[in-house]
Amino acid sequence: MSIALIILAAGKGTRMGSDLPKVLHRIAHAPMLWHAMRAGQALAPERTVVVTGHEADMVGASARDFDPETRVVLQTEQKGTAHAVAQAAPALDGFTGDAIVLYGDTPFISQDKLEEMARARSRHDVVVLGFNATDPGRYGRLVTEGDALLRIVEYKDATEDERSIALCNSGVVAADATLLMDLISEVGNSNAAGEYYLPDIVAIARARGLSAGVVPCDESETLGVNSRAELAQAEAAFQRCARLRLMEDGVALQAPETVWLAWDTVIGRDAEIEPNVVFGPCVTIESGARIRAFSHLEGCHVSRGAIVGPFARLRPGAELAEHSRVGNFVEIKNAHLGAGAKANHLTYIGDADIGERTNIGAGTVTCNYDGFFKHRTTIGKDAFIGSDTMLVAPVTVGDGAMTGSGSVVTKNVAPGDLAIGRARQENKPGMARALRDMLRAKKQKQTKG
Ligand code: UD1
Ligand code: MG
Repeated sequence: MSIALIILAAGKGTRMGSDLPKVLHRIAHAPMLWHAMRAGQALAPERTVVVTGHEADMVGASARDFDPETRVVLQTEQKGTAHAVAQAAPALDGFTGDAIVLYGDTPFISQDKLEEMARARSRHDVVVLGFNATDPGRYGRLVTEGDALLRIVEYKDATEDERSIALCNSGVVAADATLLMDLISEVGNSNAAGEYYLPDIVAIARARGLSAGVVPCDESETLGVNSRAELAQAEAAFQRCARLRLMEDGVALQAPETVWLAWDTVIGRDAEIEPNVVFGPCVTIESGARIRAFSHLEGCHVSRGAIVGPFARLRPGAELAEHSRVGNFVEIKNAHLGAGAKANHLTYIGDADIGERTNIGAGTVTCNYDGFFKHRTTIGKDAFIGSDTMLVAPVTVGDGAMTGSGSVVTKNVAPGDLAIGRARQENKPGMARALRDMLRAKKQKQTKG
């Protein structure tokens, strides 16, 4: 069965108190919209349509960043959820199969649930994702009779009896795409809000003798975000789930509640993550790697057996080969550290390639930027970079070469050579003693006077 996703994202989200459209606020470093889009991808949709309205260009661009094939449509005026879905019709031209409607501000619908809904379509013409709310508040209520879903009533339009129903509408709906548009064409707006309600399609379908059913889900999946406080709650909920999932997959998290994950963090089995580690987007940690306390990682790849931190910073393009070692107060950006290579203390490595087993001494800096251009540093394997070496890029240090501590290396160093680029040391016998005597005498004279 072909699937089309319709994701509603036209709303303004006034309660966020923000210039940024609501669906672009981030949870675990990804816009909420991407979370919804990612869940939908489990169904391998043939088409994805995002309905935009408020700040449409920005929302459309973000949707296309996630999936360049996304069809973006515009709802110029927000007249209700049924009206929003109707705007997707031209983008579904020529499509046959099921349509599933998701909300851009409901980021936690699981892939499993969407698959369950797709399966439930073999039993019902219209399938609605429902949940038992601990506080049903202003959600739409699902009026059922046995297994059958009779209709959905919005809170504003509900009687006292209907408001006492705890089974609520998540907003997620699945139906044949052509049927969905056909049902929507019958939806009117004579209700308390004067809006075209998507949930009205249930009663319309029933009146035609079609069947509607509910797939139940946990309330946590339907968590929507309407305010900054709810965004923070959503972040916390995401982190809780993501940490649990990692531990279930065999990752060791010593103090899970202190580890911050991104929406796309990948960590292999038996990797160890110490307390207070922060993951930005695009990080992959292989099995058995160890990330020590207080490290910050983004856009990087750490291979098996590598050890990072404590207090390390891996920035985009950091690529650590097997058993390499990055210690405290070391920053690595757009650089490859070969297998078994080490940069243990107080170092900046940017735009560089470091060969296997090479040792980078404390305080080493690749001077990669001249204010206009970035330049690369290339160091071969088994090299030894003395402490406090400044490598002024572009520069190459050959296999097995060494640099003397405190050197400023501006010229290439051939394999096996030793480069020393520092002022020659001169010792003045007894001079320290003489200097001290002279200074002491001066000070005594001053205090007497
Ligand atoms: C909707 C449902 C309600 C359900 C609740 C779950 C309707 C009429 N009611 O109510 O039964 O319990 O969600 O959260 O559908 N949107 C548009 N264009 C519009 C209107 C809305 O794109 O013209 C988008 C919004 O941006 C949002 C989603 O649709 O992402 C839902 O709209 P919202 O106004 O939040 O509906 P609720 O009142 O929460
Ligand atoms: Mg809502």
